[in-house]
Amino acid sequence: MKHLFTPYEMKSLSLKNRVVMPPMCQYSVTAKDGIANDWHYAHYVSRAVGGAGLIIIEMTDVEPDGRITDYDLGLWSDDHIPALARIVDAVHQHGAKIGIQIAHAGRKAEDAELPVAPSAIPFDENSKTPRALTTEEVEQMVEKFRLAVRRAVQAGVDTIEIHGAHGYLIHQFVSPLTNKRNDKYGQDRTLFGKEVIKAAKSEMPDHMPLIMRISAREYVEGGYGINESIAFAKEFKEAGVDLFHISAGGEGQIAAAGRPGTHAGYQVPLARAIREALDIPVIAVGRLDDPALANSVIGNEDADLVAVGRGMLRNPYWALEAATVLHKEIEVPRQYDRGFARG
Ligand SMILES: Cc1cc2nc3c(=O)[nH]c(=O)nc-3n(C[C@H](O)[C@H](O)[C@H](O)COP(=O)(O)O)c2cc1C
Repeated sequence: MKHLFTPYEMKSLSLKNRVVMPPMCQYSVTAKDGIANDWHYAHYVSRAVGGAGLIIIEMTDVEPDGRITDYDLGLWSDDHIPALARIVDAVHQHGAKIGIQIAHAGRKAEDAELPVAPSAIPFDENSKTPRALTTEEVEQMVEKFRLAVRRAVQAGVDTIEIHGAHGYLIHQFVSPLTNKRNDKYGQDRTLFGKEVIKAAKSEMPDHMPLIMRISAREYVEGGYGINESIAFAKEFKEAGVDLFHISAGGEGQIAAAGRPGTHAGYQVPLARAIREALDIPVIAVGRLDDPALANSVIGNEDADLVAVGRGMLRNPYWALEAATVLHKEIEVPRQYDRGFARG
């Protein structure tokens, strides 16, 4: 029977266990011009030392105004590559695999003078009213995603995650609440996402899997639910997605905290629904930091991988501790062996 520490393989991505560190923006005030620095290095490498199988670098944006804040990471120039490559190499040395989340915040770009979006609808009464992208600008945006993916591949990542969740640009195109366009990107609300997927794939080695994060439910009046997300995820799968990372919400905020259903495992039923309907591997995420619960998600075949976000902010060694609690084999760094002795 599979469990949290059973290895996992998807195309060229070969993981020593099923524990994922999901993307988490660091809003690191020391980050300059989108370039990762020593904070990011210590942050990601320590989770590799801590036993995670896959680490997904935080939302990394395709243009400066695609960032939520000026303290977020970017991949809009080749200058961003070396700092990421340094993190990727060190994470590999500690036995973990590493991906990166490629994104654009759209109307949720707080520090942009004039944010862009599918339609000129502000996020809320305190937000700037965004400017609607022209059709040509949307086409250029696809190109920006493509170039960011090319640079991520050059930095040596093992997988790419496209951010299609939490009310950011791709989600803004998918949602009927935020996309009121009349052009081809409004007539087909998944078109932008599909073009981004195909552009990403064109830059990725043939056997590198593409992950896409989606919000499977919006939790807002007039928003879409699981039936709609199954339908659009099917289109994204056909466009080239190999694995879905199932989150929810986001028209209100970046994470689902404070939304309905933030009890343990609150998004697992959504992950299972997408997995079954589309016959595709999924990552489950959301309050799964109890090792027994995380393990049951794999054992019950609700999902193929489990991501632990806030749990890993609290404890970089979450995976080592979970394996100890669950009595599963895991390689503990020799230097830390005595800290995880089983008696
Ligand atoms: C500080 C912080 C930053 C986050 N940044 C991102 C992000 O960059 N991209 C993303 O898709 N989700 C982001 N999230 C959401 C997490 O990836 C995760 O889905 C969420 O925290 C729920 O999982 P958890 O209960 O294990 O923390 C962030 C969450 C936190 C707490």
